[in-house]
Amino acid sequence: MNRLRRPVEFVKDRLGWEAMIKPIDHYAPPETTEGKSQWAYIFGFGILFSFLLQVATGIVLATNYVPSPDSAYQSIQYITDEVRFGNTIRAMHWIGASAMVILVLIHACRVFLTASYKYPREFNWISGVVLLYLTFGMALTGQLLRWDQHGVWTVVVAANFAGRVPFVGEHIAEFIMAGETVSGETLTQFYALHVFILPIAIVLLIGLHLFLVTYHGISELPRAGKPVDPETYKQEYQEYVEKHKRPYWPKGIWNELFFGGLVVIVIVSLAFLIGPRELAPPPDLTDLSAQPQPDWFIIWYYALISVKPHGYEEFFLVYLPIGFFLFLLILPLIANRGERHPSKRPFAIIGLSVVVGLFIMLTVVGLRAPWVPDYETEPLQAAELGTEEPRLLEGAMVFHERGCQYCHQIHGEGGEWGPDLTDVSSRMGSEQIAVRIVQGIGNMPAYQDILTTEEVDLLVEFLNEVDELEPD
Ligand code: HEC
Repeated sequence: MNRLRRPVEFVKDRLGWEAMIKPIDHYAPPETTEGKSQWAYIFGFGILFSFLLQVATGIVLATNYVPSPDSAYQSIQYITDEVRFGNTIRAMHWIGASAMVILVLIHACRVFLTASYKYPREFNWISGVVLLYLTFGMALTGQLLRWDQHGVWTVVVAANFAGRVPFVGEHIAEFIMAGETVSGETLTQFYALHVFILPIAIVLLIGLHLFLVTYHGISELPRAGKPVDPETYKQEYQEYVEKHKRPYWPKGIWNELFFGGLVVIVIVSLAFLIGPRELAPPPDLTDLSAQPQPDWFIIWYYALISVKPHGYEEFFLVYLPIGFFLFLLILPLIANRGERHPSKRPFAIIGLSVVVGLFIMLTVVGLRAPWVPDYETEPLQAAELGTEEPRLLEGAMVFHERGCQYCHQIHGEGGEWGPDLTDVSSRMGSEQIAVRIVQGIGNMPAYQDILTTEEVDLLVEFLNEVDELEPD
């Protein structure tokens, strides 16, 4: 006995872990006034578990992945087909990412609902907001690493939006792509961000976040009519905790272990059931007609493209998200006192419902987006157009072959990403149409280096006449 205990004592004494563990003793959420444990408070732990799982599966993926444009795509195929359990591990990483995003959002909503960001926990919230954005950063950078058409174009479009930020936009866009276009450098940079920089930032911030959680203690459930007053809060909190505390070990930890375990089991089971996100075809950077289908957790942003009113792109795609981020950051600084109970904060609850509703709505719009280019669209035939005029038929061919039809409808045939062009001649003159095609605008790609002058002429002629034609 003695012999066994000695080395344990030795390690305990020299590493001092008892002193380290002790403050965590009261870390468990205090009981409610009815003596029940607080199940609303388990999501943070679920995030931690899913993050650890991401680290584990990420390491396996990274050891088999080659971050170079020539080999990235093949190395993912290799992981999927050849590496032992590779397919399942990819699936776990993909579903784990989804789980992490969902849990982070739920956790943020819960903290907002219980107003736990108020005094003295302002920095818990601020570090949490940064973690939320870092999580989205991981989601965005991860997609590019697949180096398929979806991932690459998702980033091209993101950089395109970033480019619209006033003053610094172009620099941000260049920084995101590590150059003027997506290239090998972009991939190396995203790899470094996804594998080193962002995870290290996340680990450090989780450390700060958890330290603050233990330092200030977990907020008690809000009680209506008990507003937070910085003068007296700490005192009252101490008294509350003395009455309702639960030792972390062994009572407090069970809820959290149970939930954390559940998260892992669900992720692994879904990984087996669903599998990883399928690889799209490899990217073809000269194929301007290809459009991204981003992963679901950021598709809300891309959906903004299709629902924003014309002419307000900058406001919706740049200022709104940035404004929202800044608002979240300063929220606890402008509202760190007062009532915490939801029933006493009607405007906060309405605001939250609107944000959650918008997020769900935009995600649904994004997933079913009619604006996803329609690659199946058939070229318009002479019979459909009701003309035998060879130059017009040639124009129709170019319109289809150069991918215009993926995004534009003519007489009901084609994709809906861009405006219907059937009656474009009533809106624009030939000169304007030509300029639009050559220079592009917004999400209309510039065709300067892609089309010959002859092809542009054919398109303009075709677009000028097409309204007059009588399709069957
Ligand atoms: C990736 C999808 C996409 C492709 C491919 C595409 N366009 Fe567009 N196009 C758009 C979008 C989106 C707009 C609206 C841009 C804006 O005003 O913000 C647009 C606008 C236009 C307009 C102006 C219409 C108006 O009412 O303002 C013309 C003309 C046009 N495109 C012609 C073409 C032609 C010709 C081609 C093929 C060479 C083409 N487009 C290929 C997406 C596309």
